[in-house]
This record gives sequence, structure tokens and C-alpha cells, in this order.
Amino acid sequence: MIPETLMEKPKGGLTRRRFLGKAALGCAAGAGGLAGIAALRSIAPALTRTKKVFSVGRLHDFPVNTFTLLPKHKVFILRDHEGVRAVSAICTHLGCVLKRVEDEFRCPCHGSRFDDSGQVISGPAPSALPWFKVDLAPDGRIRVHTNQRTTSQDKLRLF
Ligand code: FES
Repeated sequence: MIPETLMEKPKGGLTRRRFLGKAALGCAAGAGGLAGIAALRSIAPALTRTKKVFSVGRLHDFPVNTFTLLPKHKVFILRDHEGVRAVSAICTHLGCVLKRVEDEFRCPCHGSRFDDSGQVISGPAPSALPWFKVDLAPDGRIRVHTNQRTTSQDKLRLF
């Protein structure tokens, strides 16, 4: 006698063999989907490329001794008596936009804190904030190059 679990069910019913076949097909489709997502992620920077070099305004737009957050570009512009610098406003933990609170940068998401030079005061942020090259565009506007890293001491010297 054939056990009931091995017997084919009538057409339209789900036998063990059909179920396993469909499960295998589902797994293959899932794996293919994950591979597709991985492939898309690898080319996503090209598809979602944000401007790496952009003008942020003129010198008089940035008061001396201030950090100005530019939400559109997610950078802070620091203007002091000597010149202008730019630091990322993106938390190195999970990418939240930082706020300037008292004399430091603070992440509203999980509480990371960074000092004026972008160094981590307290985590969970794993690394310091990157600084970007700043120069003057031909039209006299301040231009930030987020594709060119620099140090917290390197600035566009104005005087
Ligand atoms: S995203 Fe900033 S601490 Fe988590």
C-alpha cells in the first residue's frame, strides 16, 4: 500500500512534489532578485549621482566665525577671519544630517558628537567627518568639491 503522503492528489491539488518544485522556483526567484538588487546598488551611484562640485554662495553670505549648514548639499561652511572651509554634515554612523549645537556637531539620530575639527567626541559614529576642498569659481562664488578630501586646517585663504 502506498502511503497517502506519496500519492498524487487530483489535478489542481498541491502534491508534495509540486509544492517542492514551487518552493525551489520561489527560492531561485528570490536569489535572482537579490542578485538584481546587488547589481542595481553597484550602479546606483551613477544613477543617483549628486553634484560633487557646487557653488554655495558669495563670501558675504557667510558671517565670520560661523558654521552654516547647507541642507541641500549636506555640508557645513565654516568662515573665519582667514578663509572658508567645508565639512560634511552627514553623520558617519548611518548618515543622518548633523546639527550644530553649542560648540560641536551633534547627530539627532543616535547621539554621536563631533568636535570643531570633525573628530568623534562620542559614538556610535565610527570615524571623523570628511573635509572638502573649497575654491572660488570663475564667477567669484565659493565652490565646494566633495570629491576632493582635505584636512580641517586646509582652507580657501582669503587674506
Ligand atoms: S546616524 Fe548619527 S549616530 Fe547614528
